Amino acid sequence: MAFRSLLFILVVVALAWIQPGSCQDDLADQFLPGPYETQTVVFDKDDILAIDHNIYVYGPLAAGNFPIIYFSSSLAGNVPATAYKVLLEHIASHGYVVVCPAKLNWPGTEYEAQWLIDLHNWVESNLLINLINMGFDAELKIDFATEFVMGHSAGNHVMCEYLKATCGNVQGFIMMSPVDGVDELGIIKKFCIEPPSQVSFNIPTLVIPAGLDSVPGIAPPKGLTAPCAPEELSNRRFYDGMIGPTWMVNATGYGHADLLEPGLVDLVDELKYCAFHEGGDPDEVYRRFLGGSVVSFAKGIMGECNLLQNLEDSANIPVDTRIEMKGMEDDCPVGSCEN
Ligand SMILES: *[C@@H]1O[C@H](CO)[C@@H](O)[C@H](O)[C@H]1NC(C)=O
Repeated sequence: MAFRSLLFILVVVALAWIQPGSCQDDLADQFLPGPYETQTVVFDKDDILAIDHNIYVYGPLAAGNFPIIYFSSSLAGNVPATAYKVLLEHIASHGYVVVCPAKLNWPGTEYEAQWLIDLHNWVESNLLINLINMGFDAELKIDFATEFVMGHSAGNHVMCEYLKATCGNVQGFIMMSPVDGVDELGIIKKFCIEPPSQVSFNIPTLVIPAGLDSVPGIAPPKGLTAPCAPEELSNRRFYDGMIGPTWMVNATGYGHADLLEPGLVDLVDELKYCAFHEGGDPDEVYRRFLGGSVVSFAKGIMGECNLLQNLEDSANIPVDTRIEMKGMEDDCPVGSCEN
């Protein structure tokens, strides 16, 4: 009997020890690759009459019902999704299907939301069966009711226009180094946000500036001296323009293009005019920080509220950050969108 009670006490003590520890691990785990193996497939617009964009999909190779994230890349979707491989695989490995439309037609008509509405319709009717045919798990499901939109750079302008047109089932908006205007230099004037006005849609939003977004490259080629993300067209314009609960987690030491895969020859021109991170943690840490922030936000507003600590407490975050928040009526904002 004494032995049994001792055992019982030991178990209770052990559990008490494990509990807080595992919670911390849970926070740190978001910045590491997730539990699922992933696969990437590409749909070619020339093979499918109903779509006018190529679509890259990163998804988990597993049975389950996984939320969907639409991602618009830099230059309004003109940078291919493969340029964001580590980041997008990171997100997919945590149980998300990431859909990345791409079309080389810059500047084009990407800032009118209709094409994305059409693409959504194709995705909701056809994506799952095609993924299964292309080698994903036969028991894969896509949770179309839990949808997120995400962008990098001017890709956020596209998503911002989309949310003006429709909320659909979107639960949250994730912006990495957002830039407004048709081109990054602001030559063509067409904006999603007109300060000091705010947008019409109310949605939980995560803005992740790179601290060097508005710093021009060190050796601008051909006299090009504008930064990749001019201050007045970028991060704070979007943060101020949102009306819902909004976090801004500024990765102070990194530059506008540091999240891209290294060695992308066709992006060299773009890279040359963005200031970039030097010394200290390598860019791999930055990509994991971004992936971890995205999944902490997406899970956090869909019920795992404790993960929002990864957006709110810089002690949890693997790179140096400056954090701002607004519009929080309670500690646990919940995914939703009203227009
Ligand atoms: C982000 O941090 C950098 C470095 O501290 C700063 O220069 C920049 O203005 C910040 N960005 C925003 C949007 O606050």
